[in-house]
Amino acid sequence: MQLPYAEPFKIKMVETIKRSTRQEREEWIKQAKYNLFNLKSEQVFVDLLTDSGTGAMSDKQWSELMLGDESYAGASSYYKMKNAIKNILGFDYFLPTHQGRAAENVLFSVLVKENDIVPGNSHFDTTKGHIEFRKASAVDCTIDEAFNTTIHHDFKGNIDLNKLEKVLTDHQAARIPMIIVTITCNSSGGQPVSMQNLKDVYAMAKKFGILVVFDSARFAENAYFIKKREPGYQDKSIKEIVKEMFSYADAMTMSSKKDAIVNMGGFIGFRDDDLFKKASVFTIIYEGFITYGGMSGRDMNALAQGLDEGTEFPYLESRVEQVAYLGSRLREFGVPTQEPFGGHAIFVDAKRFLPNLPKEHFVAQTLAIELYLEGGVRGVEIGAILADRDPKTRQNRFPELELLRLALPRRTYTNNHMDYVAVALANVYNRRNEITSGVRILKEAPIMRHFTVELERI
Ligand code: F0G
Repeated sequence: MQLPYAEPFKIKMVETIKRSTRQEREEWIKQAKYNLFNLKSEQVFVDLLTDSGTGAMSDKQWSELMLGDESYAGASSYYKMKNAIKNILGFDYFLPTHQGRAAENVLFSVLVKENDIVPGNSHFDTTKGHIEFRKASAVDCTIDEAFNTTIHHDFKGNIDLNKLEKVLTDHQAARIPMIIVTITCNSSGGQPVSMQNLKDVYAMAKKFGILVVFDSARFAENAYFIKKREPGYQDKSIKEIVKEMFSYADAMTMSSKKDAIVNMGGFIGFRDDDLFKKASVFTIIYEGFITYGGMSGRDMNALAQGLDEGTEFPYLESRVEQVAYLGSRLREFGVPTQEPFGGHAIFVDAKRFLPNLPKEHFVAQTLAIELYLEGGVRGVEIGAILADRDPKTRQNRFPELELLRLALPRRTYTNNHMDYVAVALANVYNRRNEITSGVRILKEAPIMRHFTVELERI
């Protein structure tokens, strides 16, 4: 028999989590205005709100904290991070930032101007937020297969080259500062982009003289999928694949809270000295001096170590296969999910789960509330609330997919927790016909409303 995968680590420290009663959860979710972001973490048993900054650092990362150099300028921790970025990702220049959206803020302050168009593959919400905040537009060029959860496609994060070419030719190149490729593509379900697609997008961008920027939060999981699925990469190491992937980018933004397995941090990688210098000005205004940019020395050390651990095959295998384990348990219970399973999360198809609920009732949010009530499991809505209003018409945008994302923190939960989550969701599925109404909005912020929205039951 072939030996199954197993975690390439054992547990040295644990944190207590508590179960609650349904009655307690009814009260808590009401107090939280039916917004799961408003729950206290102690009111949650299994927290799958996000895989961002919620992972467990290794003993080596914790020991790196002790070696942190907190000098304001030129700290050894900065050079440790610089070396890791050069060795693993291949970028000569970098700027630290306090997290991923700060990297977007700094870079886009240089690149994005009013009326610009920024094509990409289902831009993440903060990315889109930073584009729209500058009165520019994000154009989604993801392949159509990504929007049908029942179709199998190995690389649902891919950019449709015809859609991209049309955007590039229909608009004057001067108004397109960059193409953003998100690896893996969070918004379409943690779906990877193939090496071939990265290569093709880069070639097209060069033909039009446009920059390619990778939104790289989950780049290592993307490399794992390339190794498993794309012909010619089976025998390459993750680190070799990562290097090749980034050879098709001019710059990158990174939320290190994901694949660098730290609780906080980010950075921008540059190939070009000129762009690096222009962005440095904004780093100093928004984040801090260019050798720490919002990060403490100890955190830069842990990040450098995390980049190395996060690009090792045995770790990635246990990570991505745990996500698939949850997905396959849900599949056994008949729960409809985005397939193939993503790298960091399972995306439950809320429209297929609750087909009779009108979209105005916020289908995925309703499902997230039901799962919390059932078992104290916190997921997150990737649907109409997140999609926000159209900035011009102020009408609600109803996206093609209404998803409930169950994101798995790295190295944090066991497969027993996955079984617990699967059964909780199966119980909701079995009583789905009793769920006939959802929620309506009481209060919302003008931008990125999902974090603070207040809802009531219809
Ligand atoms: N890009 C992608 C693809 C992301 O998933 C995120 C964050 C960011 C950029 C922004 O990074 O949070 O460090 O500022 N995603 C988190 C999530 C919040 O839950 O998916 P950040």
